[in-house]
Amino acid sequence: MNDTKQSRRGFLEVILGGGVLATIAAVVYPVTKYIMPPPVAEANLSQLKLKYGRADIEGEPKKAKYFKYGRELGIIFLTDKGKLNALSATCTHLDCTVQHRPDLGLIWCSCHNGKYDMDGNNVSGPPPRPLARFRVEEVDGTIFVSKEDV
Ligand code: FES
Repeated sequence: MNDTKQSRRGFLEVILGGGVLATIAAVVYPVTKYIMPPPVAEANLSQLKLKYGRADIEGEPKKAKYFKYGRELGIIFLTDKGKLNALSATCTHLDCTVQHRPDLGLIWCSCHNGKYDMDGNNVSGPPPRPLARFRVEEVDGTIFVSKEDV
């Protein structure tokens, strides 16, 4: 009789202990997954072929196109002299996405009114540094961009 009680108690302790552990795991696992970002490997790019051609950017009003270079966002547009310019689209102040504003002759960050010239040099507002530049090559109408420092 006492052995039976003992074994029932042991069985209940195991079941309850397992339940407590499962509850803790059910809370801790999603919280941990939420806090820790998933590992995203940086694409090892030496050059990126854009899906846009000069024809997609040319014309009036002047257009700009955004592109992803690995995890980085870039912007490409034509200057007034017809040169293709590709810059990082991430503001050097607090990482907002910049906009091409040919009507103002600027690259503009709407977050804190940061202004860059069309070569990416910071000209006014809070941005502390120029935008990073990409090297642009055009081969038979296809545009390739790569990092300038590579
Ligand atoms: S984030 Fe661009 S000016 Fe502040």
